[in-house]
Amino acid sequence: MHHKAPAYHVPILGSAVSKHLVTDPNGTYIDATLGGGGHAERVLERLGEFGKLIGIDRDPSAIEVATNRLSAFAGRVCVVRAPFWNLRRILADQGIASIAGILFDLGVSSHQIDNADRGFSFQRDGPLDMRMGPDAKCTARDVVNSYSQQDLTRIIKIYGEERAATRIARAICDNRPLARTGDLARVIARHSWGPQKRKTLARVFQALRIEINDELTHLEDALQTAVDLLQPGGRVGVLSYHGLEHRAVKRVFERGTRDCIGPVDLPVCACDRHPVLTVPTRRPLRPDAAEIAQNPRARSAAFRVAQRLDISAQTWVCHRGTRL
Ligand SMILES: C[S@@+](CC[C@H](N)C(=O)[O-])C[C@H]1O[C@@H](n2cnc3c(N)ncnc32)[C@H](O)[C@@H]1O
Repeated sequence: MHHKAPAYHVPILGSAVSKHLVTDPNGTYIDATLGGGGHAERVLERLGEFGKLIGIDRDPSAIEVATNRLSAFAGRVCVVRAPFWNLRRILADQGIASIAGILFDLGVSSHQIDNADRGFSFQRDGPLDMRMGPDAKCTARDVVNSYSQQDLTRIIKIYGEERAATRIARAICDNRPLARTGDLARVIARHSWGPQKRKTLARVFQALRIEINDELTHLEDALQTAVDLLQPGGRVGVLSYHGLEHRAVKRVFERGTRDCIGPVDLPVCACDRHPVLTVPTRRPLRPDAAEIAQNPRARSAAFRVAQRLDISAQTWVCHRGTRL
């Protein structure tokens, strides 16, 4: 099918994501981060006449754009504005008990970054906002102007993985109140040097965005809920963009694929664990050079997928043999 050039957000690894996600063409799929609906459209194109998709996003503008984009699939698409950590309730409201697949394309969309009024970009002057949607707990203006220096240091260090966190937090506090992203960017830029300047700016803006939108607080729980809701053979796919996200995905997948956990000094299995997931691709998929040249934001993306196993505690045979 012909794809129009989407202005809102270019879906990263578009074909690979939908190919790896869809195993049951007549199943129910969730796009937990709908954005402009690019990935959702690819998934819907792979589904049969009974296949359905529920799209979730916390951003009203994403909901509007995606609803228009997916109008050709009306009747098979339902769009919900909410944070994805409400997944269990969203599905219960629709009377859905299990799903065939779910996609998370984490972080912000190009539309959110490119729209200066949203305040996500250190390159475009705008109000200090950075809320992905109205459910966010506060704005960047609140964080920058009212958090203590200690809290700012912590956020920049942990969520931005920025080594100069202490120096930058002090500079922010010394220059408050700040009203615009441009003001904040200038303060940060004065305290970083050379080629590191851009990276430092990106890391501090990332840290604030994560704090304001609680991006990591509920991520692991939401991924675990997704795993729990998969039907046997169903898949969860995650596009992640930085180390903190990559590690959260890996932890959930490792927990799901974990076999016997001992105790190792017993000759037979004494735990009641069994794996619930298998990972079909040995390594995460990454965009190739051509995709990165066309869409530089794809460069840090990693796509991981895991599949729900069709086994239960009763049928599972531990590799260590008989259980106690
Ligand atoms: C990278 S974009 C997704 C783009 C989409 N795959 C496409 O093809 O257009 C991420 C989207 O997820 C939304 N989002 C991020 N975290 C969310 C959360 N916790 N709950 C719901 N939506 C979220 C953002 O508002 C944004 O629109």
